[in-house]
Amino acid sequence: MLLDWISLFLRWFHVVAGVAWIGASFYFIWLDNNLRTPPEWKKQKGIKGDLWAVHGGGFYEVAKYEYGPEVIPEKLHWFKWEAYTTWISGFLLLGLVYYHGAAIYLIDSSVMDLTPSQAIGRGLGLIFGGLFIYEAACRSPLSRYPKVFGIMVLILLAAASYLATHWFSGRGAFIHVGALIGTIMAGNVFFKIMPAQRLMVDAVTNKTEIDPSWGLGAKLRSVHNNYLTLPLLFIMISNHYPMTYQHDNAWLILMAIGVVSAWIRHYFNLKHIGISRPSILVTGSIGMMIIAGMVSMPVTSQVDTTTSTKSSAPAIELNVQQQVVYDVIQTHCANCHAAQPTDDMFVIAPLGLMFDTWPQIEKRASIIHNRTVVIKDMPLMNKTAMTEDERQIIGTWFEGLSAD
Ligand code: HEC
Repeated sequence: MLLDWISLFLRWFHVVAGVAWIGASFYFIWLDNNLRTPPEWKKQKGIKGDLWAVHGGGFYEVAKYEYGPEVIPEKLHWFKWEAYTTWISGFLLLGLVYYHGAAIYLIDSSVMDLTPSQAIGRGLGLIFGGLFIYEAACRSPLSRYPKVFGIMVLILLAAASYLATHWFSGRGAFIHVGALIGTIMAGNVFFKIMPAQRLMVDAVTNKTEIDPSWGLGAKLRSVHNNYLTLPLLFIMISNHYPMTYQHDNAWLILMAIGVVSAWIRHYFNLKHIGISRPSILVTGSIGMMIIAGMVSMPVTSQVDTTTSTKSSAPAIELNVQQQVVYDVIQTHCANCHAAQPTDDMFVIAPLGLMFDTWPQIEKRASIIHNRTVVIKDMPLMNKTAMTEDERQIIGTWFEGLSAD
């Protein structure tokens, strides 16, 4: 329970920090794209673009300098902690939910039978290995060809999605691709954007030349961050949509949605510089519809992983108490939480959580107990009319487990 509260706090904080980060980033991109040629007297002061805005009951005048101010003002805002705190809180959350709870959330033995430490090792390897490849590529001559580089990033993420979905549970896989993207983005701020800005501040202070290459390198990474925001935000909400991460080709779906959302981002980027290309929105929407159509095709019946684990798994001898618990769960939960739900609403197991086999149940004893005996919000809306006595059966079983 304490962990649930820590998780609540971290998640809340993570979202708030993320809103501040992405919000600031969207705002500055918008700002840059809307700067207009300033009047002559401002040009004299070294201002290369300005704009006026009205917001929250006041007028704002923003100016962007060609080089920099005469002297660095006492208070200069950097906008770095938004990125850092988002990353730190996200990483703690990943650790708490998916690493501390690896057996429940990260490992799916029908995908790959990993021990918690193997799974965590692979997870961290994926995130930091991916970051390493990206950083190495940024420092290589490849970075001089932005389009080629963009395609390389796409291939890197596709490889990460493929590996993750072949190692982890659906949700665990998606969140790892998200963590890799978030780490690359925060890394861009940390490794390039901030150092470039520090050099610029030093140059202004010492009245020396600003090397255009600082800004250019930082710009490339900022463009990457810009296109990665929408895919990353999708991953953050994807938890609610098991039709995406529970799919047999989840990695392709993730890539397809990622590409479409980056494409939509492109529309806004063009719009900001005065190019209106509604065709992007049209093709993007068609793309989304095609994805939705393909995802909804009934492929689950083809592969049918859990029934195969069910039949291939060695028959487990359940003791009397376990059998009773198993039966209660089959009666009250498995219509939704199964490889092939029979519920009228849920055609895919909610959150990818399935109770077809005893190991699937036993591994998740703590969360089953929590939701049926403590919080009592499962079965959902008590749709299957679970009685207080049946909840008690789960309660007694769980207490027995914790006493062991
Ligand atoms: C009518 C469908 C339905 C039934 C029946 C049902 N659930 Fe759920 N369950 C859901 C949905 C939808 C969610 C996801 C929403 C949420 O977390 O609130 C969920 C989420 C959960 C979670 C949270 C998983 C997580 O990863 O945090 C647990 C645990 C759970 N159910 C256990 C059970 C148990 C145990 C039963 C039977 C006693 C049961 N459910 C019956 C629909 C159902």
